[in-house]
Amino acid sequence: MKEYLLKKICDKSIAVGVIGLGYVGLPLAVEKAKAGFKTIGFDIQKARAEMVNKGQNYIGDVVAEDLQEIVNSGMLSATCDFSFIKDVDFIAICVPTPLNEYKQPDISYVESSAKEISKYLTKNTIVVLESTTYPGTTEELICPILEEGSGLVCGEDFYLGFSPERVDPGNLVYKTKNTPKVVGGVGKEATEVIAAMYRQVLESDIMEVSSPAVAEMEKILENTYRNINIALVNELAMLCDKMNINIWEVIEAAKTKPYGFQAFYPGPGLGGHCIPLDPYYLSWKARKYDFHISLLEASAMVNDKMPEYCVERAGKILNRHKKALNGSRVLMVGVAYKKDIDDYRESPALKVSEEFQKNGAIVDFYDPYIPSYKYKEKIYHGLKTIDEAVVGSYDIVVITTNHTAVDYEMIAKNAKAIFDTKNAMADIVENREHIELL
Ligand SMILES: NC(=O)c1ccc[n+]([C@@H]2O[C@H](COP(=O)([O-])OP(=O)(O)OC[C@H]3O[C@@H](n4cnc5c(N)ncnc54)[C@H](O)[C@@H]3O)[C@@H](O)[C@H]2O)c1
Repeated sequence: MKEYLLKKICDKSIAVGVIGLGYVGLPLAVEKAKAGFKTIGFDIQKARAEMVNKGQNYIGDVVAEDLQEIVNSGMLSATCDFSFIKDVDFIAICVPTPLNEYKQPDISYVESSAKEISKYLTKNTIVVLESTTYPGTTEELICPILEEGSGLVCGEDFYLGFSPERVDPGNLVYKTKNTPKVVGGVGKEATEVIAAMYRQVLESDIMEVSSPAVAEMEKILENTYRNINIALVNELAMLCDKMNINIWEVIEAAKTKPYGFQAFYPGPGLGGHCIPLDPYYLSWKARKYDFHISLLEASAMVNDKMPEYCVERAGKILNRHKKALNGSRVLMVGVAYKKDIDDYRESPALKVSEEFQKNGAIVDFYDPYIPSYKYKEKIYHGLKTIDEAVVGSYDIVVITTNHTAVDYEMIAKNAKAIFDTKNAMADIVENREHIELL
C-alpha cells in the first residue's frame, strides 16, 4: 500500500476529499486543487457546496480568483453526498470541535463525519484528522469507527493520522501553503505517506512525529500557551491600572529583549474558535487521569472575567462624567474576535455588550466587517457607518476590536469618552485626553 500510494502522490493521481468547507477546509481544498490534485469538498451545508460549485468565495483567506479558476478547470467541486468518498484516496477531516454549554468537548461533528466516511471507505485510502481535539481522538475514537463501518483494517487497508491545522485567519504572511505542518500517523508508514502528501502541496516544512497523540497534544500546547499568556497580561493589565502604569508601554519595553520573551496583549477576553475552547479539550481528557491542569483553571478565571471587568472600567469612566451605566448610550466599535476579519465566534465583544445591557446601558455597535451578529438566539444589527455626529451622540465609545479600517482620529475628535481595550488608538497623538486604555 505504501509504495502504491507514494507513487500516486508523486504523479498527482491521488484524488482528495476535504470534509468541512469552513475557515480551515476551504483554503486547504483550494491548495490541494491548485497543487494539481483533483479535489472534492464535502459539507453538510448545501448552500456552501453550491457556492463552491459556482466558484463563489465566502472565506476571507481564500483568493476569489483562485477559487473561480480551479472550479472552472474542474479541479475542485463540492457536494453533500458522502458516497463520493469512494472516489477519493486522501481524506482530510476539517469539521468543528466546539464545546457544549457545560464547556465540555462536543466531538459529535468529528464522530458523525467519521461514520459517514466509514460507509464508503475503500482500500488504499489515507484519512487525516485536522480538527483540533484532545490527545487520543484519532486512535481511540476515529480508528474504531472507520474499522467497524468499513470492515477494513487500519495500517493494512488504509492509513490514518492526525495533522493539526494552524491557519491564522487574516494573517498576511502565513497562509495554509507556507505554514509548517506536523504529522503523526498510526504507524510509521502512515506518517511517511501523509507527510509525503503534504510535501507535494505545501511550501512549508513538514515535521513527522511518532504518533497521532503527539501531534494532537502539540496543537493543544500551542493554543494553551497562548491562552495562559493572554491571561497573564490581562491580569497584569488590571494591576497596572491600579498602579497607574501603562501595560501597553510595559509590553513594548519587554519586547526589546531579543530572546526569551514573546509579546501577548491584553483585551476584553478570549475569542475565536480555538484559543478559548481547545484547552478545555485537554482539561477534560486530563480528568480521566485524575489530573487537573491548574494553570488552565487560573487562566480561565482571569480571561472569563475580562468582559465584566471592561464594563466595570467603562462604568468608572462614565462616573467621572457624572453618568451612570444605567441609561448611558454606549457605542461599541468592533465585534470580530480579532482585527481585520469577519469572524465573531466566541468574541468577547458579545459578552461585553451583554454585560452593558445587564447594567441598563443602551448599546449599539459598529464593525466594518460584521453588519449583524447572532448571540444567544437573538440577532443584533450594527450601524452601517459612523461619523462625527453619530460618535458625538454616545456617552462613551468602547473599542473592542482593533480593525485597521476604522477612522480613530475622527472618533478621538468627537467622542465624549473612550475606553480603548485594544490600544487601537495608539497612533492618535491629538485629543488623547478622552481616551482611557485597558
Ligand atoms: N478557524 C481557525 O482559525 C482554526 C485554526 C486552526 C484550527 N482550527 C480547527 O479546525 C477545525 C475546523 O474549524 P473551522 O474554523 O474551519 O470551522 P468552520 O465552522 O468554519 O467550518 C466547519 C465546516 O464543517 C462543516 N461540517 C460540520 N459537520 C460536518 C460533517 N459531519 N460533514 C461535513 N461537513 C461538516 C460545517 O458545515 C462547516 O462548513 C476545528 O477543529 C478548529 O478548532 C480552526
